[in-house]
Amino acid sequence: MVSIDYFIPALSMASLATSLAVIILLAEHFLMDYGEVELQVNDKTFKVKGGSTVLGTLKQEKIFLPSACGGRATCAYCKVKAVTGFGDILPTEAPLLTKEEVSQNIRLACQIKVKNNCAVTIPEELFSIKEFTARLDSVEYLTYDIKHFKFKLLSPSEIDFKAGQYVQFQSPPYGEVSESVYRAYSMSGRADARDVIELMVRLVPEGICTTYMFNHLKVGHEVSLTGPYGDFFLRDTDRKMVCIAGGSGMAPIRSILSGMTTGDIEKRRPVFLFGARARRDLFLLSEWAEFEAKHPGFRFIPALSGQEPGDDWSGETGRITDVIAKYVPDGRDFEAYLCGSPGMLNACVDVLRNLGVNEERIFYDKFG
Ligand SMILES: Cc1cc2nc3c(=O)[nH]c(=O)nc-3n(C[C@H](O)[C@H](O)[C@H](O)COP(=O)(O)OP(=O)(O)OC[C@H]3O[C@@H](n4cnc5c(N)ncnc54)[C@H](O)[C@@H]3O)c2cc1C
Ligand code: FES
Repeated sequence: MVSIDYFIPALSMASLATSLAVIILLAEHFLMDYGEVELQVNDKTFKVKGGSTVLGTLKQEKIFLPSACGGRATCAYCKVKAVTGFGDILPTEAPLLTKEEVSQNIRLACQIKVKNNCAVTIPEELFSIKEFTARLDSVEYLTYDIKHFKFKLLSPSEIDFKAGQYVQFQSPPYGEVSESVYRAYSMSGRADARDVIELMVRLVPEGICTTYMFNHLKVGHEVSLTGPYGDFFLRDTDRKMVCIAGGSGMAPIRSILSGMTTGDIEKRRPVFLFGARARRDLFLLSEWAEFEAKHPGFRFIPALSGQEPGDDWSGETGRITDVIAKYVPDGRDFEAYLCGSPGMLNACVDVLRNLGVNEERIFYDKFG
């Protein structure tokens, strides 16, 4: 048997390294004063206080980069081109950058810090992303773990977005949570209702933002949001459409479908495949039934993968991947819009590809 003595040197080294890293971080936080430096963003120059990440510094200047994971280096949405003033790629960035991106000096704005005069470039359209104050006007349960929130925009009083896009919601400090966090939520309402933002949010156990939204946010409270973000929106073509979602992934699909004209629906004949485990995971069934009645070209197909006793279900059964082929007989005619968990999405994309749907006609937003 290996004696515990064998591990002691390795454990000591590991704890020493961890302690050093913590000391360096604390020293940098409390002792390093980078003073005022210049940050150039495209053709604009800002005098800023050094020491924070590019993401945080730009936020101070009211430039809001997409940052769906809230700066945890997992979403890779916050990419910028570093022009001058930043060091080598950090270990936290490396897994999220391709070789080509590294060679083009693409960096994660949530990881690199503004320590001296430096310059980045970002897509011009990001300058038009705004910060909104909104008031929660209503909230209702759609299922036991999904809520539908309706916010009235106060300032600015209107948002200009494409159906399918998302906002970033700021969850303020509460209880044991001492910091604000930002999380992405797709807008579920019609894009022409410009003074309202609707969200469908699933409670993630122990999740910082969703626990705030479910347990602390009340009707009448004011919140802060930024947006609109994202390139998940309806393409202007004549192709047949298949939409696939699970859980709160229904949100952007609802926004896209409800904003289509009768003519477009007749032409494109969308089918919406919605995957759920049991009957209690289904919601808005009467809304989709009314939509089907109004638009004979449209079909809503829920499928249950794990019925519960008493579910009394006569619709499709099995995983949503098992159902796709029946409604997409020849993928070459179709364009696909998908939203939900990464696991479900990856599996559906594989099925769609095998059915002949052109990769460039598969659009998705992964919730994770
Ligand atoms: C573009 C985009 C759009 C999105 N739109 C929506 C939407 O419309 N509705 C919606 O409900 N969500 C949506 N999400 C997911 C959302 O942004 C958050 O990730 C989610 O609500 C969890 O946030 P949290 O702060 O509560 O949990 P966190 O505190 O971030 O996470 C707590 C723990 O749960 C894990 N976790 C994080 N997210 C999930 C998840 N989704 N499922 C299971 N475990 C998770 C984490 O790894 C962590 O261990 C979207 C995500 C993206 C990237
Ligand atoms: S904000 Fe998600 S990786 Fe930077």
